[in-house]
Amino acid sequence: MVTLTEEMKKAMATIKAFPVATASKDGWPNVVPIGFLELVDDETIWIADNFMLKTLANVRENPKIAIFVWGPETKGCYQIKGEVSLKTSGPDFDKMQETVRAKMAKAPAKGLLIMKITAVFECAPGANAGAKIL
Ligand SMILES: Cc1cc2nc3c(=O)[nH]c(=O)nc-3n(C[C@H](O)[C@H](O)[C@H](O)COP(=O)(O)O)c2cc1C
Repeated sequence: MVTLTEEMKKAMATIKAFPVATASKDGWPNVVPIGFLELVDDETIWIADNFMLKTLANVRENPKIAIFVWGPETKGCYQIKGEVSLKTSGPDFDKMQETVRAKMAKAPAKGLLIMKITAVFECAPGANAGAKIL
């Protein structure tokens, strides 16, 4: 497990919709914008499943997931990779439903993807682009 830096956390706080990439077992990539994505501790990200179809099918057969953190207000660009587990009941799931429905009363909030961060790579252009930084 890796722990995000303060700079990375600040960058995440500025993003309104994160690109979330998954892949099927046979390697088809899929990328979607996700608004309900929250860093719950320095190494764990919660992602709310409201409308996922291919993303959900993918994580059921292949738990590997990637996002990138970049926007006009971020200082750097960070590519974050990890593995997810899916929860559809329990205290974490209930907390996610409460948070999501506080912002969007009729949200399905049908699942919680718990992403454990395993690596972070640089994605700003330059000599270090692509390099593993955590
Ligand atoms: C700005 C924006 C934010 C979104 N946020 C979420 C979200 O938080 N959770 C979710 O399940 N779908 C969200 N969606 C919908 C997904 O991007 C996508 O349509 C859904 O996962 C179905 O695509 P898939 O079949 O590739 O999984 C959002 C879409 C947009 C445009």
